[in-house]
Amino acid sequence: MAKLLYIETVGCQMNVLDSELVTADLLRAGYQTVDSPRRADVILLNTCSVRQHAEDKIYSALGRMKHLKEHRPHAIIGVLGCMAQKDQTLIFTRAPQVDLVVGPGQLGRLPALLKRVAEGKGQQMEVSLDRSAATHRLVRQSFAKYDPSRAGRPDSGSPQAMVRIMFGCNNFCTYCIVPSVRGPEQSRTVEEIEAEARQLVDAGCLEITLLGQAVNSYQDRSSGQTVRLADLLYRLHEIEGLARLKFVTNYPRYMTPDLLQAVHELPKVSPYLHVPAQSGSNRILRRMKRRYTAEAYRQMLDRARATIPGVAITSDFIVGFCSETEEDFQQTVDLVRRGRFKNSFIFKYSVRPGTKAAELYADDVPYKVKQRRNNELLAVQNDISEEENRPFVGRTVDILVEGPSKAGGKQAEDEPVIQLVGRTTCDRIVVFEGHRRLIGRIMPVEIYQASAFTLFGKQI
Ligand code: SAH
Ligand code: SF4
Ligand code: F3S
Repeated sequence: MAKLLYIETVGCQMNVLDSELVTADLLRAGYQTVDSPRRADVILLNTCSVRQHAEDKIYSALGRMKHLKEHRPHAIIGVLGCMAQKDQTLIFTRAPQVDLVVGPGQLGRLPALLKRVAEGKGQQMEVSLDRSAATHRLVRQSFAKYDPSRAGRPDSGSPQAMVRIMFGCNNFCTYCIVPSVRGPEQSRTVEEIEAEARQLVDAGCLEITLLGQAVNSYQDRSSGQTVRLADLLYRLHEIEGLARLKFVTNYPRYMTPDLLQAVHELPKVSPYLHVPAQSGSNRILRRMKRRYTAEAYRQMLDRARATIPGVAITSDFIVGFCSETEEDFQQTVDLVRRGRFKNSFIFKYSVRPGTKAAELYADDVPYKVKQRRNNELLAVQNDISEEENRPFVGRTVDILVEGPSKAGGKQAEDEPVIQLVGRTTCDRIVVFEGHRRLIGRIMPVEIYQASAFTLFGKQI
């Protein structure tokens, strides 16, 4: 009988992709997926460590699973991903019901480790080397690339897919845990990426999103020549049948003219750039070790808009970083006002043990102040998002239909015409009514209403 697998994922798109790959691996090994942990033989949580809150949620989910394990002692509980790499054996201490801890650089070992647990060999852990524990080469090797052949993946035929073009991060922004849990920066070769993209398109994929923590620092030197992200876009653009190409997340400094030009010239590349600014205060940016000034960031925005007319730009901000004053914060507000972002993700600073900021600076902005600044910045951004969406009313846009809209609530399975959701090339969400069979297609829709987060359209 097939073993039943339940997998839950938090965190960024890297984790979403890893979970897809893990699931594909285990399906190949004879597992079947179920949508409730209560029925599963193997329960996997793919975790995130970027903020304390993300970790707290995982530990409380593990707490709930203690009871589940009492009723189903044979069930195997595994913790994967960034928190597995960060907390390691601490997970077994805090949650003894866990059988398996696997870091993001060791996911290829998962099927073998599951087998060992099932054979009664006790708790298993496989993580990568700490970045300071060995030579750079050994550390890099310990973060093994995990993008095996995707043949037989469960979602093959899906109109959207993610392709990792690089692993890890070398930027070491002082607040950020990602470089230590995802390891050193490593780019995949163009050949590998292109082969994967072609395979996905052959299986019916229309839109590919290229992933990297600082995706625009991509560099493949394996052939003797340096291939950068702009070159890669030109290469992938040639793939027949591919309709859309996106890439996230960009580091502001590497938003070079050749990359902007490629986005402008290549019709399949979406005019959409996610380029986190983090703060509008130079003093804070220096403390964050972001290696650019607010002025340089603004110039980058101007260049992007001059090169790519109509480009949608989105950003991330952290409020309440160590020593952030009201004046620093107002400079961030000013950047959001003048930056005209399509939207911004705003986070309250969360101190991460093991980072430079945790070591060097006091987390001295009170929670209430972080909360207030968060709300204030969000309100400013939301007004801008709405203003930026309003001109779409009356326009016809091409959207890729992603599926039933969640806003429509629970929709009857047998109803053919339902509320659907799709996306424009500039990453705007469009809700409209249409037949289920439109899912996975690219089609024109006329916009009749716009809010800060959503465009509402009708089929034409
Ligand atoms: N690699 C991406 C983002 C990684 S994490 C980049 O560099 O843009 C996603 C976002 O989480 C970051 O952009 C940042 O805004 C936020 N973030 C990272 N560490 C954080 C921390 N310690 N506290 C609060 N927010 C954080
Ligand atoms: Fe973290 Fe900075 Fe790397 Fe992004 S670029 S993952 S914020 S260290
Ligand atoms: Fe979280 Fe790891 Fe992504 S820490 S944001 S899941 S790289």
